[in-house]
Amino acid sequence: MIRWLLSIGVAILALGNCASAGDDVIPNVVLGIHGGIGEDKKDMTPEIEARVRAALNAALKAGKAKLDTGGTSLDAVETAIRVMEDDSILNAGRGAVFTHEGRNELDASIMDGKTKKAGAVASVTTVKNPISAARAVMEKTRHVMLIGEGAEVFAAKQGLEIVDPSYFWTEHEWKAILDIWKKEAAARNNGQAVIPAIAKPHLGTVGAVAIDAQRNLAAGTSTGGLQNKMHGRIGDSPIIGAGTYADNEAAAISCTGTGEFFIRFSVSHEIVAQMKYKKVSSKEAAEDVINRQLKELNAEGAAIVLDKSGQFTTARNSEGLYRGWITADGAVTVRIYE
Ligand code: GLY
Repeated sequence: MIRWLLSIGVAILALGNCASAGDDVIPNVVLGIHGGIGEDKKDMTPEIEARVRAALNAALKAGKAKLDTGGTSLDAVETAIRVMEDDSILNAGRGAVFTHEGRNELDASIMDGKTKKAGAVASVTTVKNPISAARAVMEKTRHVMLIGEGAEVFAAKQGLEIVDPSYFWTEHEWKAILDIWKKEAAARNNGQAVIPAIAKPHLGTVGAVAIDAQRNLAAGTSTGGLQNKMHGRIGDSPIIGAGTYADNEAAAISCTGTGEFFIRFSVSHEIVAQMKYKKVSSKEAAEDVINRQLKELNAEGAAIVLDKSGQFTTARNSEGLYRGWITADGAVTVRIYE
């Protein structure tokens, strides 16, 4: 009887600790990435899903190849994010969402967990790979963030690829903004006040976290931001401590979600601070911020976390999260809703 009660107790405890759907806690990861919260399940098509999975796979393999050839965690993060920026299925680089004025304004940041150096660009419209511009800000200037024209002039001087703003245009995102404008015009005609707002957040930011052979952590994030955002609006992705943070003493983190909340809650730094000062695990810290603090305000979002031991975890309060990871032995996993 006692043994039976004990085994029931152990089973209940195990259930309590058991990861529910959507929880990832994976050891020996060297690179973890996300492609944002993405489409609601009801809107997902086999074509979109195949393209998302292919993009994540390609990013993981490219980033891992860097690590395998002696690259640093910063190299792996930059490389993985560049692949995702170049893929028009994700909301970063080509394929970015449109602002209320019909422009693509891009934000990105990167952070080195060893030195705590960081770089960011915001509201750029001509830099093909904003993550590389962010890294150049970190490595070639005494600043952390450059915005708009200043960032673009700097990126050009660094020899980074500059493109016409039309490079970022995609039919999918253009149709989406036209639809929003139509709805806003109808609202105006009905005498309703219309402010440039988020029709559907379209949370497709991309990010990466990595650890290298020297056990140095790095994190990076890149995005087109929120669909229908105001001209000049900047989200959490280029804000160090909000969308991106890396600290060799704890973890590397990249976030996706409604940036305003991630800025207000300093989400990525809050996760690191809980790990360092409350001595909780990366999973507990991330769940507290994403599934308690943000959820109380209905703020949708997610974080990916790679801790200093190489354990990768995610926390989300959304239906899905485009994400993947690759372990030291090269095994790739990609997940969306599970
Ligand atoms: N998390 C992306 C943004 O709000 O811009």
